[in-house]
Amino acid sequence: MIFETVKQIVAATRSYRSFDPSRPIEYDVMREIIDAARYCPSAANLQPLKYRIVAGDETDAVLPLTRWAGYFRDIKLPPDGRTPTGYIVILHDTSVSPETDYSKMDVGIAAEVIMLAASELGYGGCMIGSFDRDGIKKALGVPDGLVPVLVLALGTPDETVLITEVKDGDVKYFRDGKGLHFVPKRSLEEVVIE
Ligand SMILES: Cc1cc2nc3c(=O)[nH]c(=O)nc-3n(C[C@H](O)[C@H](O)[C@H](O)COP(=O)(O)O)c2cc1C
Repeated sequence: MIFETVKQIVAATRSYRSFDPSRPIEYDVMREIIDAARYCPSAANLQPLKYRIVAGDETDAVLPLTRWAGYFRDIKLPPDGRTPTGYIVILHDTSVSPETDYSKMDVGIAAEVIMLAASELGYGGCMIGSFDRDGIKKALGVPDGLVPVLVLALGTPDETVLITEVKDGDVKYFRDGKGLHFVPKRSLEEVVIE
């Protein structure tokens, strides 16, 4: 894979919060994606992460337990009828190891690999860190010892998200009059320290 391709895939893998209900992500596709994520690096190679796939009718139970786009006060996301068609809930298995800073790094690595893989397969979604942990455990019947740490909402995006530059230090994402979503990213000059 050439470097420009890696950069393009990362740039194209944005957070999407509106989905086409006619093109759902299937259970088996999410399972395949997790098969890629299990090759991820893991601190001390402990591999404490487990994954709960949510598809079909079960998805309705997850949405009300998740919180979206905290910067927006007046825009309801996802819009009614344009909700995620699948979820992958990343769980920490405390029978493997206790939760640590390192295990949280494992979560981030696995989560981005899942989003990149989904993107390459024509899907997309949003990492959701703000969710009701107890509610998710109950709704999905998650066994004791498995702690939900991150929810990945997935589907076929039906909105446009564009990268823009950070201006005057403002990192808040915003939407224009046409509903295009802009995500400011810090410049290379700002993030590489000399
Ligand atoms: C660890 C993590 C947790 C996040 N939690 C939420 C969340 O609870 N709700 C939400 O709408 N977006 C969430 N996001 C998405 C961020 O808002 C998004 O990554 C950011 O706005 C930049 O947009 P981009 O992903 O398109 O670059 C989360 C992202 C990360 C990495």
